[in-house]
Amino acid sequence: MPLKRKLYSGNDFRKAVSIDELYEIARCRVPNFALEYVIGGAEDENSLNWNQTALKSIRFKPNTLVDTSSRHQRINLFGQEVNSPLVIAPTGLNGMLHHRADIALAQAAKNNNIPFSLSTVSNVSLEDVANEVGGRLWMQLYVMTERDITRDILKRADDQNYEALVFTTDANVFGNREWDKRNYRAPAKLTMRNIMDVACHPRWMFDVLIPYGVPRFENIVKFMPPEAKTAKGGVAIFPKLFAPDISWDEVAWLREKWPRKLILKGILNVADAIHATELGCDGIILSNHGGRQLDSCVAPIEVLPEIVEAVGDKMTIIIDSGFRRGTDVLKAIALGANAVMIGRATLFGLAAGGQDGVNHALSILTTEIDRALGQLGCTSLDELHPEMLVNNLS
Ligand SMILES: Cc1cc2nc3c(=O)[nH]c(=O)nc-3n(C[C@H](O)[C@H](O)[C@H](O)COP(=O)(O)O)c2cc1C
Repeated sequence: MPLKRKLYSGNDFRKAVSIDELYEIARCRVPNFALEYVIGGAEDENSLNWNQTALKSIRFKPNTLVDTSSRHQRINLFGQEVNSPLVIAPTGLNGMLHHRADIALAQAAKNNNIPFSLSTVSNVSLEDVANEVGGRLWMQLYVMTERDITRDILKRADDQNYEALVFTTDANVFGNREWDKRNYRAPAKLTMRNIMDVACHPRWMFDVLIPYGVPRFENIVKFMPPEAKTAKGGVAIFPKLFAPDISWDEVAWLREKWPRKLILKGILNVADAIHATELGCDGIILSNHGGRQLDSCVAPIEVLPEIVEAVGDKMTIIIDSGFRRGTDVLKAIALGANAVMIGRATLFGLAAGGQDGVNHALSILTTEIDRALGQLGCTSLDELHPEMLVNNLS
C-alpha cells in the first residue's frame, strides 16, 4: 500500500499532535470567511510566508552527552516567574471562533502561568476578563483617530490593574488583506458562496452565531456608531479608525500616564528600539503583526540579533510572527529574546476546542520546547546562545 500522509482533521482536538494538525481541525469547524480572517496576510503574503520560512532556515548545533534530566523552561518575565517563555498575543474578533473566546484564552493562559494580552477590539470587555479570570493580564492599545478611546481604555485598564500596556505601533494604516476582501460582495456582506459555506457549518452556527449573535466590540462599543457596534458593521469601518498620525509623542504621553509596564509592539529596527528605551519603555515586541500589515517586511527573527545587541541589556525583548513549533521558540531565545508571543497557534486551538483547545495548543508547544531543550543538551533556557545555531539570516 502506498504511504499516505494526511493530518488528522476529525472532531477530537486532543488527537492533534502539532499546531498544524490543530489548524486542520479548526479548518473543518469554522466557516471560510472567519478562518480567512485569522490565517490571512497582507497582499501577496510575502511577510506571512517569510516569517515561517525564516524561522525554519535556522538550524541547531546541539551539545551531546549532557545530563538533562532536571531540565525546565521557566523564566522570569518582568520580575515574576512564568512556566514557559510564552505570552498569548492580542488578537481582535476572537468571538468569531468561539463564544466568549477572550475568557477562554485568558483562562488557558492563567492555567499555564503565562500572560494573556487582550486586544482593544476584543469581544469581551477588559473588566469582564479581569473579574472572571484575572491572572497576568496585558492590555493592548490601538491608538485610534478618536483619542477619547485611548484615554478611556487607559483609565479602565489602570482601574483593573492590568500589568502592562501594549501599544501596537504598526497599525497606523490598516493592512491590505486581499483574500479577506474577496469573501465580501459589499462592506459587511458576504458573497453568496460564503453564505452557503456558513450554512455548511451548522455546528459553528449553533455554538457561536445563533445563541449569541454576532459578537460586539465590547471595549469600544460606546464609541462606535449604531451600525458598527457588532463585528459585522464594525469591521467595515475599522480601516477608518486607525490613526495615521500616531508618533513617538504618543509613547511619551503614555509613559507619563501609564503607571506600570509599557511595551511597544511592532518594532523592527535598531533606531526605533533605542528610541523606545530612551522614552522609558519597559519592553518591545519585535513583530510584523503576523504578516497582516506591511507586505514584504523583514521577519522579526532576522532583526532580533542586532536589536538584542543594541538594547538587550536595557529592556525586555519579546518576539512574535510565525511561531508554530517549540524549536521556533528556542531559536528566538537562543538569539536573545526573553519570550515569544503566540497568535494564530493558540487561535487554532481555540477554534478546534475552545478553552481546552487553547490548553492543548499550549501543551503541544511546551512539550516541544521541553523535548528540544533536552535534545539540545540544555537544562534551562539560560544555556541557549547564538553559537548553538547556524543562522544565515543576518
Ligand atoms: C486574527 C488576528 C487578529 C489580530 N488582532 C490584533 C489586535 O487586535 N491587536 C494587535 O496588536 N495585534 C493583533 N494581531 C497580531 C498578533 O498580536 C500577533 O502579532 C501575530 O498574530 C503574531 O503572529 P502569529 O499569528 O504568526 O503568531 C492579530 C493577529 C491575528 C492572527
